[in-house]
Amino acid sequence: PTTLDKWVLPVEEIPALKEAAVHLLSSSIPVAFPTETVYGLGADATRSPAVKGIYAAKGRPSDNPLIIHVSDLTMLRALLTKPNSTEPIHDKDADPIPAIYKPLIEKFWPGPLTILLPNPQPSHLAPEVTAGLPTFGARMPSSQLALSLISLCGVPLAAPSANASTKPSPTTAEHVLHDLDGRIEIILDGGPCQVGVESTVVDGLCDPPVVLRPGGISLDSIKECAGWESVVKGYKDASEIGNCAPRAPGMKYKHYSPKATVVLYESRAPKPAITGEEGSKVGIIRTKTWASFLSPTSTSASPVQTSTAYTIQQGLLASSPAAEALEISLGAEIKDIAHSLFSALRDLDARGVQLIYVEGIEDEGDIAAAVMNRLRKAASEIVG
Ligand code: TXA
Ligand code: MG
Repeated sequence: PTTLDKWVLPVEEIPALKEAAVHLLSSSIPVAFPTETVYGLGADATRSPAVKGIYAAKGRPSDNPLIIHVSDLTMLRALLTKPNSTEPIHDKDADPIPAIYKPLIEKFWPGPLTILLPNPQPSHLAPEVTAGLPTFGARMPSSQLALSLISLCGVPLAAPSANASTKPSPTTAEHVLHDLDGRIEIILDGGPCQVGVESTVVDGLCDPPVVLRPGGISLDSIKECAGWESVVKGYKDASEIGNCAPRAPGMKYKHYSPKATVVLYESRAPKPAITGEEGSKVGIIRTKTWASFLSPTSTSASPVQTSTAYTIQQGLLASSPAAEALEISLGAEIKDIAHSLFSALRDLDARGVQLIYVEGIEDEGDIAAAVMNRLRKAASEIVG
């Protein structure tokens, strides 16, 4: 990867960005790029071979649709209008963007919010983007690098998260490299993603409007927008999933899982007594209340530095000193927890732990719902 944050040029003049744009417009191998949420794996959304390249690189089932990334509203409006349309335009001033989305776009774009829109037939978009659905999801990311890349390309970019299918989403260029090395040729490195969890996906085309995936924009802040006061939660967390058909196609797949088995403690569960077999290695992710599980005399003097905001404490478990433990504290702030969560799961995985114990947080408040949604999907066992 080329580390772009070391460049002092304005982003539009970064040679690597131009190279990536040329690759995106000419090749069928996708390009990984940073957004404010997670790294995306982008392709020209108007070309079928390019979009197919995304599914191939990720190993993603092709019935799971992709999000379209635009750099401005003109680009979005073009997608809402049929190509080479010969139909008379009755109202020249009519905006093809549905009115229900206006307050959301004004408040949250550019940013971590994806809206569902009607896909005209015929469409500018490659059919693989929408996986046969009559709608497409679109967002305008706030990352300067992402915006510059899209506008340099001059076409919308279809991009899922740049992880191998089923793995935690990548929040650094190293995560992308780990999952997709050998499958793609360019990763733009913009450093760790600011938000750390994916965008919130909303459907305003139905009544009442629905949140299909919790993410970087909270339900409470969406409710404050005109027309969205009665928005409902249209996703289910692992504990609630019955036999009903999932509404967002991505919801039915195993997701966000590291190799290690994740055991999630809901916030209401009492602090567990973590033990480990002799010679085993467990991972622990603490958030708001858990105190350290490490035996104070065993903790190494120099914690392991990582590329993100936390360090990893290494030591023996106080309650079973024959077992080793790697412990990460993400702190009590929801934004910090969201920012580092996927990274922490991946870091513990990379260090060979077999089990990861995670301290959950309450669903309420800011983007806590997104954090808990991802953790419940990643977990093999939920306590509490
Ligand atoms: O933050 C994000 O949204 C990141 C960055 C890269 O922008 N992208 C991302 O894409 O998370 P992906 O493909 O990993 O997740 C897209 C989600 C899936 O759950 C998918 O099913 C849903 O959006 N989705 C996309 N188009 C849809 C549609 N037309 N109807 C319903 N759900 C849709
Ligand atoms: Mg994803």
